[in-house]
Amino acid sequence: MLDKVHTQSSKVQVAPAASGFGAVVTGLNLASPMDEVTLGQVRGAWADHGVLSFPGQPLSLDELEAVTLQFGPFGVDPFIAPMPGRPNVLELRREPDEKATNFGAGWHSDWSFQPAPPAATLLHGQVIPPVGGDTIFADCAGAYAALSPVMQDMLAPLRAIHSAGRAYGTKGVFARETEKRTMQIIVSEEADKTHTHPLVRTHPVTGQKALFVSPVYTLGIEGMTPAESQAILGFLFAHMTQAEFIFRHRWAKDTLLIWDNRRTIHLAEGGYDGHLRVMHRTTVAGEVPV
Ligand code: SIN
Repeated sequence: MLDKVHTQSSKVQVAPAASGFGAVVTGLNLASPMDEVTLGQVRGAWADHGVLSFPGQPLSLDELEAVTLQFGPFGVDPFIAPMPGRPNVLELRREPDEKATNFGAGWHSDWSFQPAPPAATLLHGQVIPPVGGDTIFADCAGAYAALSPVMQDMLAPLRAIHSAGRAYGTKGVFARETEKRTMQIIVSEEADKTHTHPLVRTHPVTGQKALFVSPVYTLGIEGMTPAESQAILGFLFAHMTQAEFIFRHRWAKDTLLIWDNRRTIHLAEGGYDGHLRVMHRTTVAGEVPV
């Protein structure tokens, strides 16, 4: 056992992006459970870099579920029908003839409207279009750190109002959609509910502070008028998504990606009409943001 631990972990290589946000991890086979040392190393890299990609990992659904559970229990995925017989796996599928906007096309942190949103999302590349379809991340901790101390102090006591309504609500984007969509979206009154979270959250592992707002799920700021909320949130959205905070992931089949929803927002880029794109997605339960 000790040999295996030594052998596996000593081969793991972490190649961070130049900015330090995002990294590629090689030298391990995720089809077998990671031993404690390897898992510790991967968790450390994840805490340091926020988004990890593992190229060349041809995982079955059982193996994807098993890797997910090494990071923690499954999160709860609302509003999208899961894969048959796999209540914790979503298939993100867009057929070549689909005209509906690709799923996940706006900046968001997954399910941030939940009382305890998922800590992590894992996405596994099945069918990758030859063009487009990248996933793009913004570093909300880097963006927070770059604000002036005066702005940081002003944001510190604020709570942001999150809701799934704009997307999955009874008057949301999916409710109004007329184009065919392969993914089965469940529009619901439940989605119109709101939940508040600190606008700046503290990461439970690193202690880093990060902006916790996104254009898709944040409706406003508690106690402010719509105009006041819009002015502050509009500034923050533009600030967070500047080039210096961005990590772009270009997909290859069998790459596994894991990102930290407590530190990042992301969007799925389109640009692949006429081509199939298929991903398998799981989430890891998170904690109440503080
Ligand atoms: C998402 O989970 O928001 C979709 C990401 C992607 O399909 O690239």
